[in-house]
Amino acid sequence: MSNNDSVPLHIESLLMHARGDGDATFHDVVAPIHLTTTFRQTVLGGEPHFDYSRAGNPTRELLETHVAALEGGSYGYAFSSGMAAITAVLSLFKPGDEVLVPNNIYGGTYRVLEHYFKNFNIGYRIVDVTDTAAVDAAFGDKTVALLFESPTNPLLTVADIAALSQIAHKHDALSIVDNTFLTPYLQLPLALGADIVIHSATKYLGGHSDVIAGLVVLNNAELAERVFFILKSTGGMLSPFDSYLLLRGIKTLAVRIDRQISNALALAHWLVEQPQVERVYYPALKSHPGYRIQAAQAKGGGGLLSFDLIEGASPQRFFDALQLVVLAESLGAVESLVCHPATMTHASIPAKLRAEMGITSQLIRLSVGIEHIDDLKADLARGFANLPA
Ligand SMILES: Cc1ncc(COP(=O)(O)O)c(C=O)c1O
Repeated sequence: MSNNDSVPLHIESLLMHARGDGDATFHDVVAPIHLTTTFRQTVLGGEPHFDYSRAGNPTRELLETHVAALEGGSYGYAFSSGMAAITAVLSLFKPGDEVLVPNNIYGGTYRVLEHYFKNFNIGYRIVDVTDTAAVDAAFGDKTVALLFESPTNPLLTVADIAALSQIAHKHDALSIVDNTFLTPYLQLPLALGADIVIHSATKYLGGHSDVIAGLVVLNNAELAERVFFILKSTGGMLSPFDSYLLLRGIKTLAVRIDRQISNALALAHWLVEQPQVERVYYPALKSHPGYRIQAAQAKGGGGLLSFDLIEGASPQRFFDALQLVVLAESLGAVESLVCHPATMTHASIPAKLRAEMGITSQLIRLSVGIEHIDDLKADLARGFANLPA
């Protein structure tokens, strides 16, 4: 969408206006929630745009076209969770196929590959996505895709999306990027060469810890048709009400993320100075190994950071003293959340593999919210003060 002079809108404006007018009858400014499961038909054998809400629903379609436009894609599909979106994309593959994934992929993605897709003889191998030569060498006859996040969860490792996508294409494989952490406001994987973008929209896109949702965006018409076939056949679509909540959340994405980034950057610098902190992982810190790639391919470090407490400091004692920051799974919402990946989000990964990944029992992940920075520092300081000197 562009303004009257055909000058493309900035993303801050597109977040509100990319979907254009909503309902053609009433000209709603806010997306109407179409709860109907079915639609009146008049011509036998006709092909109505909507016939049954599992296949298509007007509220969901508004969201799908909106998100596709934001990601710079032609086709968007909304699922009932990020995992439903990931499962649908992995369902594109057939027995004997194999997918490459990074060594610190989201725990749920690892779980569905290890304990679900393996049953259908769709395999996976783990690669270090920071080593492009190793990724290149890892492709084999069976490899059909490279599925990765950047930055990764929870260690904020940065992957070079353009370079990795080129490598995948060289091997006639798909480059699939989980863009949950940075969202189209900060990073556009399709423009960098990826074929498919996935979201857990539960996180930043929703932004208020009140909707579980997943999205898939892509440009290839044939692949899009297959994703849509999987969506309507397996029925993992997003409900009209949740589609509305996401449309509503997306409007404020830019202002939320701007504040989250400024808080996260300030906290990252502050955490580096804390004696009880061994190490800080945040890709907008110059000391971060992925700093240069992050600066080149994204518009900021995002709102997520992690840190290791020093050896012997008890994460439980740290969490016990917090009064503002909530100990909870998930991330990306307006309120700050902390989690202990080893026992929470990444508990489904075997301990040995977790240790190899660098997810130690000292690691704490912080999803930075939009609270006042001084209150956040004061709360984390309470946690550090509760650790023996
Ligand atoms: C990067 C990433 N991808 C996918 C998911 C799964 O999304 P959902 O919880 O919406 O199913 C998560 C959830 O934490 C995630 O962090």
